[in-house]
Amino acid sequence: MNRDHLDSCIVGWVGDEPVACVSLLREDFIPRPEFSPFVASVYVVPSYRGCGYGKDVLKAAENHARNLGLGVVHLWTTDHRRFYEALGWDWVENIEVVGRRADVLRKNVALCKNGVANMRLPTPVLPKASARG
Ligand SMILES: CC(C)(COP(=O)(O)OP(=O)(O)OC[C@H]1O[C@@H](n2cnc3c(N)ncnc32)[C@H](O)[C@@H]1OP(=O)(O)O)[C@@H](O)C(=O)NCCC(=O)NCCS
Repeated sequence: MNRDHLDSCIVGWVGDEPVACVSLLREDFIPRPEFSPFVASVYVVPSYRGCGYGKDVLKAAENHARNLGLGVVHLWTTDHRRFYEALGWDWVENIEVVGRRADVLRKNVALCKNGVANMRLPTPVLPKASARG
């Protein structure tokens, strides 16, 4: 991770296995400078979904942004609005991004609690056998 700057990627590890990631970017696909900076590329390896790691890496990005002195950050999503809203993100508007409709959400990370995220993730408690790849 680039600890001092935007344009960073955080990787969440279980043991030696990278299982989740998130980015904090100055620019994304949206040509709207007022939305910068962006949280992007929130991703969890399918077999580890439902363990809370998506939430963990998102928190890590929020903490990283706050430690950089940032206030409001944005993200866009085509189909996970509810996921982000449940984690304290506020819907801003629905726009077109690279030919698709997408919801823009924002969060004031300066108001987030908790310290810097430790990205050594806990041992997974996997939801159910059918959820693993
Ligand atoms: C979206 C994604 C990151 C979620 O990761 P995850 O590790 O499965 O999520 P978590 O286990 O941390 O879930 C946290 C909470 O969000 C809920 N949640 C998960 N996915 C959700 C969704 N699509 N919609 C609404 N809620 C969702 C979980 O039920 C959980 O709720 P709880 O705290 O009440 O139990 C993962 O499904 C993924 O990588 N998807 C493919 C990539 C992608 O679409 N990324 C988003 C781009 S905008």
